[in-house]
Amino acid sequence: MKNNILIIAAAAALTFSCAEKNPDLPVYLDPSKDIEERIADVLPRLTLEEKVAMVHAQSKFSSAGVPRLGIPEVWCTDGPHGIRPEVFWDDWDQAGWTNDSCTAFPCLSNLAASWDRELAFLYGESVGAEARYRGKDVLLGPGVNITRTPLNGRNFEYMGEDPFLAGQMVVPYVRGVQSNGVAACVKHFAVNNQELRRTATSSNVDDRTLYEIYLPAFEAAVKDGGAWAIMGSYNLYDGQYNCHNEKLLVDILKGEWGFDGVVISDWGGARDDDEAIRNGLDMEFGTWTNGLTGAPSDSYNNYHLANPYLERIRDGRVGTEELDDKVSRILRLIFRTSMSPEQHFGSFTSPEHYEAARRIAAEGIVLLQNDGTLPLDPATKANILLVGENVLKKLVVGGGSSNLKTKYEVTPMEAVIEAFPEANVTWERGYVGDPTGSYNLVETGQDLSESRSAEKLAEDAVAAAREADIVIFIGGLNKSAHQDTEGSDRLDIGMPYGQPELIEAIAEVAPRMVVVNISGSPVSMPWADKVNAIVQAWYGGTEAGHALTDVLTGKVNPSGKMPFTVPFALEDGPIRTERQYPGIKEEGKDYWDEYYDEGVFVGYRWYDASDTPVQWAFGHGLSYTEFEYSKPKASGMKVSVKVRNAGPVAGAEVVQLYITAPEGAAVSEIVRPAKELKGFEKVYLEPGETRTVTFKVTPRDLAWFDAEDHVWVAEPGTYTALFGSSSRDIREEVDFRYR
Ligand code: BGC
Repeated sequence: MKNNILIIAAAAALTFSCAEKNPDLPVYLDPSKDIEERIADVLPRLTLEEKVAMVHAQSKFSSAGVPRLGIPEVWCTDGPHGIRPEVFWDDWDQAGWTNDSCTAFPCLSNLAASWDRELAFLYGESVGAEARYRGKDVLLGPGVNITRTPLNGRNFEYMGEDPFLAGQMVVPYVRGVQSNGVAACVKHFAVNNQELRRTATSSNVDDRTLYEIYLPAFEAAVKDGGAWAIMGSYNLYDGQYNCHNEKLLVDILKGEWGFDGVVISDWGGARDDDEAIRNGLDMEFGTWTNGLTGAPSDSYNNYHLANPYLERIRDGRVGTEELDDKVSRILRLIFRTSMSPEQHFGSFTSPEHYEAARRIAAEGIVLLQNDGTLPLDPATKANILLVGENVLKKLVVGGGSSNLKTKYEVTPMEAVIEAFPEANVTWERGYVGDPTGSYNLVETGQDLSESRSAEKLAEDAVAAAREADIVIFIGGLNKSAHQDTEGSDRLDIGMPYGQPELIEAIAEVAPRMVVVNISGSPVSMPWADKVNAIVQAWYGGTEAGHALTDVLTGKVNPSGKMPFTVPFALEDGPIRTERQYPGIKEEGKDYWDEYYDEGVFVGYRWYDASDTPVQWAFGHGLSYTEFEYSKPKASGMKVSVKVRNAGPVAGAEVVQLYITAPEGAAVSEIVRPAKELKGFEKVYLEPGETRTVTFKVTPRDLAWFDAEDHVWVAEPGTYTALFGSSSRDIREEVDFRYR
């Protein structure tokens, strides 16, 4: 069906290339005409039924076009780390095509850890090209929900705990995707910070916190990134479901930010006929109509924005004003994507995409601790013992809607053998985590079944460690339930499956030990001081293993920085009561209420305010070289610092700018965070090279959100610019005045 429509549209567009000779051709088919003119031209040509058909799904991932006018269907795909395998028309399971194995890019927390805007563009550009090649118009991603609790199962699909970092990284991602004529659909809007009871929890957040912490990344994606689509989230905000939340969608997104794109429901996230019509939802997707809990299949006509909508219009209960607005937005999306004047063809699983995936993965790997053990000499003849399930578990498969099918995935095992050709590489499993290898009918092809007991596994690993020259433990989390996955939250912040005890036992006997934690969210490491080096790796996608060995060998000098704080213990964090998480059920309500009592004190803002030691600070990450900071300067609102590579090898430093507001600020009595990230720059330096890094501070960087007057307020005064290698490693500071 889709191909036919595209052919009709293409034929019509082709005919129009001799438009001057044929002035009767409709404006909406003229790619040289302004999009708004095209919309105004086609809207009156549509029947009521055709319009309603456009605002809801016709299959799991598509909505209807208007074949008689050559208006194509809209096809969506997950997102955000690669292009989801084709699924059946009305089923989540993959359909078993043989030409849809994509490039898996690193998870978004890995991208965020690169702190590299160019790589974010490259990521978006590459994944967008894969979407275009596969005939998709909307990529369901990226995600920018803030890491409020380390337990959120979907932290790996998001860009960390800081709104500025997430905002800076999402903009180039969106632009990159959309440079292919594919809409980025930024998700999940908004205050959707947990998976537990995700469809039955109402987030209660004060306005200051909402505007300062939870909205800025979305705002940046819309205003600076120019996102063409936004996905409403499953949860409620202030007692109203977010897919048709009046304040979030009508007042803020479309009102204050002037969003002219399409609001798409999360799959099954619309809950109410009238609200879906009135409150800013433009397209309803999902399998069922009641939050994914069940219904006869193929029930698309029962959607809130399907027959119930038609009936309301026909019997006069609602007018067509909202419908025309929704359809105009969908047409705008179509004219920006499949009917855009620019021809995009995309590309799929190209060598360039694999290379991009490897680069991004490596640039986001964080060296947390190192006593000089790393990097390892690629020519080593040592006995290298690899321990851990993640040494060979393929981690692209699983985790919910971001599950991908790939042609291959380089495991750490394969990459280590390749990177150290002279070494004697052996493996011990050490523990059993998740031996399964199948998700939505996508198979890893691995048999990870195990017959040894937990004790025997640990015993074997310790015995082998005694004989090794160096142990590289590669463990952490995976994509199964209660780990890094959609649909459930983690139960604890530590490593599961007895890994902490195992690491300690191995550390006692191993001459040298490197631990690689693979996760997409914060994992505490109480054993840290017992091992020589620690590496935070992520779900690196197709090229994960190569990216890891690039860092272990020093081929890539690590430059990743943590996009979130890792506390020593969960209890150290800002979430301390049941009302904060996982929420409480009040009598008479059919959902749980969750109160963001911690306010703006999320992540490092909390650990700073409470003066709590942390294991790995936000922004932390080491290098194989050393960087020296000196001579900060301020000139008006411009602040700068000199950074020198004082070590023996080339490397990159992420220079971080935090700003401290004047104490006892004149106008306000509000408590502000001790410092907030307002700038960063990743600089590549040869040994001995020095660069001056300059930041232009804007009034908005200094502002707090005054909820009472509903304005951003930048107070005059003397502010301090702090330059750091992490939020807890501030090297230089300089004062500057605002007004
Ligand atoms: C997820 C979305 C996803 C959608 C379609 C939902 O369950 O929350 O992130 O894009 O499914 O697969």
